[in-house]
Amino acid sequence: ASYDMGGHDTYMHKEIHEQADAVDRVLRGRIDDRFSTVHLGGLNLDAREARRIRRVKILGCGTSYHAGMIGAQMIEQLARIPADAEPASEFRYRNAVVDPDTLYVAVSQSGETYDVLAAVQELKRKGARVLGVVNVVGSAIAREADGGIYVHAGPEVCVVSTKCFTNTTVAFALLALHLGRTRDLSVSDGKRIIEGLRKLPAQISEILQQEEEVKKLALQFAEARSMLFIGRVRGYPVAREASLKLKEISYIHAEAYPASELKHGPLALIEPALPTVAIVPDDDLLEKNRAAMEEIKARSGKILAVAHQPQEKADETIVVPKNEDELDPILMGIPLQLLAYHTALVLGRDIDKPRNLAKSVTVE
Ligand code: G6P
Repeated sequence: ASYDMGGHDTYMHKEIHEQADAVDRVLRGRIDDRFSTVHLGGLNLDAREARRIRRVKILGCGTSYHAGMIGAQMIEQLARIPADAEPASEFRYRNAVVDPDTLYVAVSQSGETYDVLAAVQELKRKGARVLGVVNVVGSAIAREADGGIYVHAGPEVCVVSTKCFTNTTVAFALLALHLGRTRDLSVSDGKRIIEGLRKLPAQISEILQQEEEVKKLALQFAEARSMLFIGRVRGYPVAREASLKLKEISYIHAEAYPASELKHGPLALIEPALPTVAIVPDDDLLEKNRAAMEEIKARSGKILAVAHQPQEKADETIVVPKNEDELDPILMGIPLQLLAYHTALVLGRDIDKPRNLAKSVTVE
């Protein structure tokens, strides 16, 4: 790749720091204040069709799959349509039942990932309606889909995805708001989400200003052989993506688990040498998450919380700005991109080109 690094040592660092501008771009021209909704010109789905959707199935691989997990929750919460995400690579091999009332959404930064493309082609052959949430304009998946949303993250060079992940979650918030407002989401809830969306770029800049503190934390984590990432409901996909990011670039083993499932297994692993990163949003599950941290503390586990206020059960807290509950997952993973980055840097890894991985996997 020959894009200018703009004074950064790596593309990953540059791309992390481009996120406020990138989010600005995915929002630009799409907000409709008059009706408290958003316009998505390329969706190709009229209101009558939108109202007939009975399920949403989101397909993607790697980081795009995690963005889809966040998107599925947003669609359920804002549009009240049952939604879930699945790795495209699994979906295409299990002879899934293709249902005409389901809206399928293919997610891909490159728009070229073979497993996603093959899933889209199989779906289309069976008469399904497929939307694309894609970064690269005119890519194979964008062309194959019936319509979709471009995420406008700009070129992403680092093998691991950061700004495109964030923009994809914002694109899903737009889709969820749009579907919600053609169904039962109230005008005032629409307004509330729009206000939240508008706050995102400044809040991202605020998070990135904490880089020096996160860098210090990375020194501690670089010694770990393994790490646990936990979150509950909205926090769970954030934990999944943060653990993927850490393992991809630092090669430290990391496992993400729903905080609610700790007692069904992972608690057996807790000891001082296995640090936990806990995603602790200030929402209706705060007390539950505090209880999970307490369980870990009681077994001498070290905890780093990502939260909206300092957590006394945690050894360290990275405090992130609060947005609307539904939009919090967009922000909570961002400091953990920096944590993965600085951990990998301490360990001397090839951050932009981790071993054995490719930016897009265009073969089977
Ligand atoms: C590869 C990359 C990942 C990426 C995944 C999906 O595995 O290393 O960073 O998330 O492909 O790529 P896509 O372009 O479809 O989002």
